[in-house]
Amino acid sequence: MADLWQDAMDHAVAIARKAGAVIRDHLQGEMTVMCKSSPADLVTMTDQKVEELIMASIMEKFPTHSLIGEESVSAGQPCILTDNPTWIIDPLDGTTNFIHRFPFVAVSIGFAVNKELEFGVVYSCIEDKMYTGKRGKGAFCNGKRLQVSGQTDIKQSLIITELGSSRDPEVVRHIFSSMQKILCIPVHGMRCAGSAAINMCLVAGGAAEAYYEIGIHCWDISAGAVIVSEAGGVLMDVEGGPLDLMSRRVVAANSRNVAERIVKEIEAFPAERDDAS
Ligand code: IPD
Repeated sequence: MADLWQDAMDHAVAIARKAGAVIRDHLQGEMTVMCKSSPADLVTMTDQKVEELIMASIMEKFPTHSLIGEESVSAGQPCILTDNPTWIIDPLDGTTNFIHRFPFVAVSIGFAVNKELEFGVVYSCIEDKMYTGKRGKGAFCNGKRLQVSGQTDIKQSLIITELGSSRDPEVVRHIFSSMQKILCIPVHGMRCAGSAAINMCLVAGGAAEAYYEIGIHCWDISAGAVIVSEAGGVLMDVEGGPLDLMSRRVVAANSRNVAERIVKEIEAFPAERDDAS
């Protein structure tokens, strides 16, 4: 059973590359920008078109599989992870970056069976970096093996987070309060790349020691979660305990030490679960 799901993974890589090419093409053109849950939760026709392209291609090749896609869920499709082989898709992670042509945009495809992630593919399409991770088989970027940083001293760490898309003053206050506490541990620095999937790949490749966020969705982190753990990293909930894909909370770090130190400083706030309705 060594190569179980390899054909699905090969398909994910091929379709992510194709989707990335479409995103690159659309980067230069006119964009129609629409709002979803808040004035800063944005979507474009490209997000929708690319999701349709990815989903049609998967349904054609794997008709019995289930699909969870960001834009389909926004349009009212359920977001429930069952035991059936399930593709968890963010067609364009970093939509705000895309709109502003800030060059960190990714196609993210995670794949779970029996609710366990089997592989993840993140294609950072402007950088042309193809990140892959397969359970028990390691993580790679453009074919080169990824390894998390060996730095376990939080005071010598670079931490990534995001400001998220909520503009509710109370949520923003919690986000800044956590950032202030972590910055003042002190750490070397903090960064926001604007794409959860790319943030996780940066941790997997050793460019940062950790990434955390509350408010992300399962499609932002499923693929990155496999890539981080296969690169030797750890995944955790923002209050400690195991990562729950549907909880909209994540800590991805190079080590348990760094993850647990960050968890002590994060001010958690409520976010409705992805599978709530
Ligand atoms: C967003 C990005 C962003 C993160 C948000 C996500 P999207 O995904 O990953 O970095 O802060 O929480 O929703 O909307 O661009 O696919």
